[in-house]
Amino acid sequence: MSTLEIRNLKKSFGGLLATQDVSFNVASHSLTALIGPNGAGKTTLFNLITNLFPSDSGSVKFDGVELRGLSPSAIARLGVIRTFQTARVFPGMTVLENALAGRHRLLRHGIASQFLWLPGQRREERQLAERAMALLDLVGLADQAQRPATDLPMGAQKLLEVIRALMAQPRLLLLDEPAAGLNDTETAELAALLRAIQACGVTVMVVEHNMSLVMTIADQVIVLEAGRMIASGPPAEIQANQRVIAAYLGQEAA
Ligand SMILES: Nc1ncnc2c1ncn2[C@@H]1O[C@H](COP(=O)(O)OP(=O)(O)OP(=O)(O)O)[C@@H](O)[C@H]1O
Ligand SMILES: [Mg+2]
Repeated sequence: MSTLEIRNLKKSFGGLLATQDVSFNVASHSLTALIGPNGAGKTTLFNLITNLFPSDSGSVKFDGVELRGLSPSAIARLGVIRTFQTARVFPGMTVLENALAGRHRLLRHGIASQFLWLPGQRREERQLAERAMALLDLVGLADQAQRPATDLPMGAQKLLEVIRALMAQPRLLLLDEPAAGLNDTETAELAALLRAIQACGVTVMVVEHNMSLVMTIADQVIVLEAGRMIASGPPAEIQANQRVIAAYLGQEAA
């Protein structure tokens, strides 16, 4: 069963066709890697799914609901949560406070529906903090919880952004280059975190350049080049695809 169904999606910026007739499905609980050379339209695709800006035409359905025309916050409330290519931690807040900022979606969702079984606000806060700490621990950031988030190195800030997205309890998580700038240890932590996320039943789409990471985590790979989808399939098939190899070699030659 597909969670996300994208059909004939198009977007141009002036004369530039950033997304040209892109169509694909993402199966529930799967992990899909989105790859392609710089400027291929990967981030644009996330921006269209979350309606950060409107598409020219086409359709984006999440669990059968058309997202086109919904506001980004309405889309987030449906459980479609994204991170940004450039880490955006909130300055003036600690690591833990940054993680907790992701819970706002839950609160806006209505404490009544989410936490009816809880006796009080304080217990709710404590449970959220415990959950945030458990997630921070997964990526080795628990001992940094009380530090200002902006003190963290860039790689750790990127991991923190993933944790904040998780605190929003996504049903579909869109991660834009979460491994960019991560060292080997952080990349291994990210891979473990992505597997844990998937095991919790969250559907994940991740923009990723690190092919060895893609090979170990992805069920499906979608390849964009200059706004077009040039291939899709399981990682081993994509790695051997001549058109994909040419797209990357072309970039290296350039
Ligand atoms: N808001 C915008 N206004 C004008 N052009 C844009 C805008 N957003 C993206 N583009 C252009 O659309 C094309 C696709 O950009 P996009 O950021 O989606 O690529 P990408 O695959 O994410 O690349 P990268 O790997 O560098 O992050 C690029 O040519 C880019 O310059
Ligand atoms: Mg991008």
